[in-house]
Amino acid sequence: MSVHNPMASMAHDSARLHVTGAARYVDDVPTPQGCLHLAFALSPVARGVIRKMDLSAMRAAPGVVAVLSAADLPFANDVSPSVHDEPLLATDRVHYMGQPVALVVADSHLAARKAARLLQIEIDAEPPIFSIEDAIAADSCFEDGPRVWAKGDAQSVLDQAPRRLQGAITMGGQEHFYLEGQAALALPQEGGDMVIHSSTQHPTEIQHKVADALGLPMHGVRVECRRMGGGFGGKESQGNALAVACAVAARLTGRACKMRYDRDDDMIITGKRHDFRIAYDVGFDDQGQIAAVRFTQITRGGWAQDLTAPVADRAMLHADNAYLLPHAEITSLRLRTNMQSATAFRGFGGPQGVLGIERVMDHIAHDLGLDPALVRRRNYYAAPTQPARAGLANTTPYGMEVRDFLLHEMTDQLLSDCAYAARRAEITAWNETSPILKRGIAFSPVKFGISFTLTHLNQAGALVHVYQDGSIMMNHGGTEMGQGLFQKLAQVAASRFGVGVDQVKITATDTAKVPNTSATAASSGSDLNGMAVLAACDAIRSRMAAFLGQGAEVRFADGRVLWGAQNISFAEAVAACYQARVGLSATGFYKTPDLSWDRAAGQGRPFFYFAHGAAVSEVVIDTLTGENRILRADILHDVGASLNPALDRGQVEGGYVQGAGWLTTEELIWDHQGRLRTHAPSTYKIPACSDRPPVFNVALVDGQNPESTIYRSKAVGELPFMLDISFSGALGRDCGLWGGLSHWTRFATPERILAAIAGVRS
Ligand code: MTE
Ligand code: MOS
Repeated sequence: MSVHNPMASMAHDSARLHVTGAARYVDDVPTPQGCLHLAFALSPVARGVIRKMDLSAMRAAPGVVAVLSAADLPFANDVSPSVHDEPLLATDRVHYMGQPVALVVADSHLAARKAARLLQIEIDAEPPIFSIEDAIAADSCFEDGPRVWAKGDAQSVLDQAPRRLQGAITMGGQEHFYLEGQAALALPQEGGDMVIHSSTQHPTEIQHKVADALGLPMHGVRVECRRMGGGFGGKESQGNALAVACAVAARLTGRACKMRYDRDDDMIITGKRHDFRIAYDVGFDDQGQIAAVRFTQITRGGWAQDLTAPVADRAMLHADNAYLLPHAEITSLRLRTNMQSATAFRGFGGPQGVLGIERVMDHIAHDLGLDPALVRRRNYYAAPTQPARAGLANTTPYGMEVRDFLLHEMTDQLLSDCAYAARRAEITAWNETSPILKRGIAFSPVKFGISFTLTHLNQAGALVHVYQDGSIMMNHGGTEMGQGLFQKLAQVAASRFGVGVDQVKITATDTAKVPNTSATAASSGSDLNGMAVLAACDAIRSRMAAFLGQGAEVRFADGRVLWGAQNISFAEAVAACYQARVGLSATGFYKTPDLSWDRAAGQGRPFFYFAHGAAVSEVVIDTLTGENRILRADILHDVGASLNPALDRGQVEGGYVQGAGWLTTEELIWDHQGRLRTHAPSTYKIPACSDRPPVFNVALVDGQNPESTIYRSKAVGELPFMLDISFSGALGRDCGLWGGLSHWTRFATPERILAAIAGVRS
C-alpha cells in the first residue's frame, strides 16, 4: 500500500472529557436499582493449607447479602489467562498474602469492605518462598526448568576472547498505578445471559472467563469497555477476577453487581512488573566490540503463571537490544514465589532484557575507558545500506534478519542535536569543581520488536457502519486506555471516506460487535486494528464506488465524492447508495503477514518489524542526601509515518517519565512474612508532573515503515518506556557511582544512591 499518510496531529478524542471529569469509566456507569457491591476477603498468610474458614461473622455484618467461598462457585473457579492455575477464590491452599479467599456481596461498597475484614480463617502456615535463592533451592519454577536460546558457540568464544568481564544487575518490579483502579459491573439479562462492563485491555478474555464461570457459551456474555483510566499491561489479565466475581454474584442474586478495588487492595491483590536479576559474562576486543555474551535472566513470577512465560520470552528476545552479537547464549529461569503473580507491564519483559545489555555496554566502556556512546555505536547492527561488521550476518540471537535498522543515523542526529560531546566535556569539568553535587550525562538506544510472540494473537477485526445521513460508526477490537488508539483509528476511517473526523463516532469496545479479539497490548493496537478498520471502510467504499462510478474512477475527498464530471457531497452519495440498496456496513479483518516463530528452538521471525528510539539524559545527584533529578532529556523516536504526531509525542513523554519512575523512586518492599509494605501512594512513590525533566526535547524521525503497516506508521506504545535507561548510565559513570558496583541495582532511590556512594568511598 503506498497511500500518502493523511494523518495529522489532533487532540485525543476524550481530552476535554478527561480534564473536565466528564469521561465515563466503569464506576460512573449508572447502575440499576438494587445494585450490589463486592469485596474480597484476603489471605493473611503467604503460604499454607486452609484448615477452617468461618464466614459467619461476615455474613452477620450490616448490609451483607451473601458471602461466597470456592465451594459456592457454580462452574469454573479459574481466572488464569494461561494455564488454569489461578482460582478466583482459594480452594485448599493459599499462595500469597492478599490472595482472595472469600467474596462478600453487600448493599454498599463500604459495607462489603468492612465485612471482608471479619474473615476468620485457620491456616497451617508453611515456609513461604520469596527470594531467588530460596526459590532455586526449592526448585520452585514454572515450566520445566530453564529455557535456553543460543546463537553460535558463546562458551568457547568467551574462553578465547581478548577481554572478558562478568557482572550482574538487579532490577525491581513496578506497580502499574493506573489512575482508575480495577473495576467491573455485571448486569444480569433474561435467560441467564450477562452483560459486563469491565476496565480491561482484553474484553474477549473477560467474556471467555465469565462464560466459563457461568457455564455459558461465549454468546451468552457480552463485554463492553469504553475506556480505561490507564492499563499499562495491568489490565490484560488482572481484571478477570473482578468481572467473574460480579458475574457469579449477579447470577446468584439476580441483581446488578459491581466491584472496584480500593487502591490498597488493588496493590495488594494484583500483579506487578516482573523483577529480574540478570548475570552476564561477556568477551570483547580492545575496541569494545562484543565477540560473545552469555546472559542468565532470572525472574520472580509470583504464585501463578499468568503471563510470565511470554514476558520472560520477550526479555530473552531483547537481550541483544540494538547490538549484533556474534555468539550469544541466553538462559531464562522463571521462578514461582509466594507473592502477587507478576504480570504484563509496558514493555512486557523488554525493558528488563534491554537493561541487561545496556549494563554490559557501560561495563565495557568503563573497562576500556571509552565513551559509552561510542562503544554502543560500535556494536550496532548494520544499517540497511551497510555490510555487517567482519562479514557477520545481520541477525539476532534468535535468527531474525535485521533489515530496517535506523539507529546509526538516529544516534548521529541525536548526539549532534543535543551537543552530547560538548556537554559531556563541560560536565566532567564541572564535576571536578563540585564536591557535593555531581552531574552525569548518558545516551542509550532501543530497538523493540513489534508483534505478539504468540503468533495467532496477531489478528484483529473491525465493524463499520455508514448510516443514511452519512455519519459513520466505527467499532474495532482494540481498547482505549489513554494511548489515543480510538482517535488514531477514527482518523483512519475518516481518511478512507474523505470526511472530517467529527463524522466518525468512536464507540465502546464490545464483544458483540467485534468477536475473538486479542488484548490491546504489545503496542500493536493501531497496527492491527488500523488495518482492520481500513479493510472494513474500503469494503463499503468499493461498493459505493462501483454503484456510483459504474466503472469510472471514484474519489472520496474533502467531504465530497467525485467521478467523471460528478461532484456530490458524501452525505448525498450515501443517500443515493442507500436508495439503490447498496450495503453500507462491513466487517474488516487483518492478520500480520510474514511471522514464523519456533518457541522451543528460539528461532524464527517473531516480529513484523522493529521500532527504534534513542535518548540522552542529564542528571544531577546530591552526594550528601542521595537525592537526584533529571535535568534534561533529549529523545529521537522512530514511529515511521506517524498516525498522529501529537499523540505519539504524548506516548514518548509519558513512557519516558514512567520508566524514570521504575528506575528512580518506585520501590516495592515486602516484609519477611510476604506482606507488601508499599501498598499506597504514601509509601510507593510514582513520578509526579514536577518530576518530568525541565528541559524535555522530543523529536520524531520523519520516516516510513518499510513494512506495509497502516499508512506506513510504527507502533509507539511501549518503546519509550526504555528510553530512560540512559538515566542509569548517567548515574553510573559521570556521577562517580560506578565503583559502588556491588551495591548497584537498578533502583536509584536516594537511599540506594547513598549506599552506592558509601560503597565507592570504602
Ligand atoms: N498510554 C496510556 N496513556 N495509558 C496506558 O495504559 N499502556 C501502554 C501503552 N501506552 C498505556 C499507554 C501499553 S503497556 C501498551 S501495550 C500500549 O499503550 C497499548 O496500546 P497500543 O497498542 O494502542 O499502543
Ligand atoms: Mo502492554 S504491557 O503489552 O499491555
